[in-house]
Amino acid sequence: MDKNFYITTPIYYPSAKPHMGHAYSSIIADFFARFKRIDGFDVHFLTGTDEHGLKIQRAAETKNIEPLNFCDQISQTFRDLSKTLNLSNTDFIRTTEDRHKKTVQYLWSELEKNNDIYLSKYSGWYSVSDEAFYGEDEIINKDEIKIAEVSGSPVEWIEEESYFFRLSKWENDLLNYYEKNPDFISPKSRKNEVVSFVKGGLKDLSISRKAFSWGIKVPNNPEHVIYVWLDALTNYISALNYPDTNDKLFKKFWPASLHLIGKDILRFHAVYWPAFLMAAKIPLPEKVYGHGWILSGEEKMSKSKGNILDPLDIIDIYGLDPLRYYLIKEVSFGNDGNISQDKLEDCINSDLANNYGNLCQRVTAFAEKNCSLKVPEIKNFNEEDLIILDKFTKNLPIIREEIDKQNVNFYINFIVNALFEANKYFNDQEPWKKKDDKDRLNTIVYTSLELIRKISFMLYPIIPDTIEKVLKIFNLNPLDIKIESIAIHKNLIPGDNLKRIDILFKKIEKDND
Ligand code: MSP
Repeated sequence: MDKNFYITTPIYYPSAKPHMGHAYSSIIADFFARFKRIDGFDVHFLTGTDEHGLKIQRAAETKNIEPLNFCDQISQTFRDLSKTLNLSNTDFIRTTEDRHKKTVQYLWSELEKNNDIYLSKYSGWYSVSDEAFYGEDEIINKDEIKIAEVSGSPVEWIEEESYFFRLSKWENDLLNYYEKNPDFISPKSRKNEVVSFVKGGLKDLSISRKAFSWGIKVPNNPEHVIYVWLDALTNYISALNYPDTNDKLFKKFWPASLHLIGKDILRFHAVYWPAFLMAAKIPLPEKVYGHGWILSGEEKMSKSKGNILDPLDIIDIYGLDPLRYYLIKEVSFGNDGNISQDKLEDCINSDLANNYGNLCQRVTAFAEKNCSLKVPEIKNFNEEDLIILDKFTKNLPIIREEIDKQNVNFYINFIVNALFEANKYFNDQEPWKKKDDKDRLNTIVYTSLELIRKISFMLYPIIPDTIEKVLKIFNLNPLDIKIESIAIHKNLIPGDNLKRIDILFKKIEKDND
């Protein structure tokens, strides 16, 4: 079986302040990347910044600096963010890099060679904020200005000479592709949206602009710059050194396993991108998954709406892992989710401090007093031990399957249940009352330690820093984590030393307690 996995986040518009929505899409991608790695896959995980277009040119103008200079500064804030979020990305691409520009111009020439590009005139609505064209039927009036209904962004009328991509030509091929590859667009609700959009009829797409210069030049006509979305989407293959299809990165990782994106940019990824690829005779990615939004009240959290919860502030107060855990658990993946500091605090107190932190502390403290801080010898598991251990063995294939369906909710629920059951097991078995039955006491401690090991392995993709600390109990490091070993009942070696660890999560005092 092919054990390569290529996952991408969208490349971010370098806005001065990354917000929780950016943090969310990156953390989720990191979760998948880390899971696949501990499942034995060779993972390529790409993120980066999307630096061309009128939006960036205007932002640089207001600061009175050159666009590239502006991008250098802001792109760095996203590179820093990826470190702050502890992302395990293997590449960070900037669309202003030469490796990217070369690929975009090559792709353009391929589309031209295959007769998919023609020169004409565009007149219609354009939103600079979305960098998107809109039809008359997609525009509404709000407070006497025209906005795109779908995003709420203001639009302006443009009329200029433009190159067009023959998108209409690919309508049937796209529909056939969606039908033959039912999981290509996920979740299902998003697929239905896309299919009905395409069935509604595709118009050719304007793919160059003449009115400004901040972009990649059209080959042989430098008066035009290439439309920023055609430019940006190409990052997924420029990072693999396309057009060198013999390059080892391209051979190994294309087609991508998963483009993880927010639902607002689904049309670009599920309609335009596959059409460009088909036209250039490049195989299509395996899946485009459109996740929901982080909301603030009822609205999408975004800079233009001024309702941002700053991930850096939250990390300063609570630490990174609580934020990662909270976002993955609380936002039902695929749907929109409302987040609040109050719920984050509840989550830290109940799940992380009480259920997980306490379990680690109690079991190791007990092992210290009663088993000389060593993995105890065991003879036989009884039925109760086996029931709880078997859950991992039986569920391992299901966990893998659900991860491949991006069912984050299944994964996190499994962990929350396992934690509840492990705590209950330790309480119900009352090892402190078994001091006269050393065999039974040892077996309970061994089973509890095994449960901590298995749960911690599963938690690693979510809270990697914390798990690194927990692994010290067993003298392990992250490279020792193999998800397949959660199926093994006796992975810990009797007689091995254990270590005590400090408190993992401090409980938050709440005003209303
Ligand atoms: N530059 C384009 C992507 C090009 S990919 C070839 C872009 N950038 S963005 O910075 O505006 O958004 C990046 C990602 O963050 C998108 O997936 C978007 O959906 C996501 N989010 C932005 N705000 C969000 C929320 N409030 N909630 C969740 N994710 C959201 O689009």
